[in-house]
Amino acid sequence: MRKIILAGNWKMYKTQAESLEFLEGFKPLLEDTPDEREIVLCAPFTALPVLSKNMHGLRVRLGAQNVHWEEAGAYTGEVSGPMLAELGVRYVIVGHSERRQYFGETDETVNQRLKAAQRHRLTPILCVGETKEQRDAGQTEAHIFSQLEKDLVGIDQGNLVIAYEPIWAIGTGETCEAVEANRIIGLIRSKLTDKNVTIQYGGSVKPNNIDEIMAQPEIDGVLVGGASLQPDSWGQIVNYK
Ligand code: G3P
Repeated sequence: MRKIILAGNWKMYKTQAESLEFLEGFKPLLEDTPDEREIVLCAPFTALPVLSKNMHGLRVRLGAQNVHWEEAGAYTGEVSGPMLAELGVRYVIVGHSERRQYFGETDETVNQRLKAAQRHRLTPILCVGETKEQRDAGQTEAHIFSQLEKDLVGIDQGNLVIAYEPIWAIGTGETCEAVEANRIIGLIRSKLTDKNVTIQYGGSVKPNNIDEIMAQPEIDGVLVGGASLQPDSWGQIVNYK
């Protein structure tokens, strides 16, 4: 019942030319990928038009990395839902820890951005997760539950993906043990009214740990940073056993 979604988050990497080069290298690696796996690339705003034009016939969905809550207005540096929808964007990451940490994103703005995404028929990928300090202090569950409670007010769980990304595992090479990620994701699911929401794991996912992660019963996909930037490693991830 639950959809498997493998999403790459390119963060602030790749020009248009580099994005096209990636596509060329990645296309042949999709030949044997099982049909039921949804593959998403969340690219920088500037790469979305060129990717959108060159993805026809390719079973890859386009994603963005943020969306503003208004449709238009005096919001310098922001991009709105209609702007993304016009480009054929289907997914949008909301509340990534880097946005919360460096750009003042709060649970309230995350909630507004989630609502905006859904208004424009984009599927938001909501990121939640704890810091190392919170984990060491035994606050992991309480922190994640608090994020979920605030972020999901008024949100349609029928059009939602959640990514559990422990902050200490992002870009560090320190993966959360697959069994522990499975436990936390099970707890996240227990808080949802719709039990069929796809819940991903994110944080140092690599070709050498994807099989173990995807073998966990609660984990429905991954949100991948560094290893989604090269066709070869991303190909190995989407073609996990
Ligand atoms: O959104 C994905 C990301 O935060 C994980 O990054 O580089 O650890 O796979 P990475």
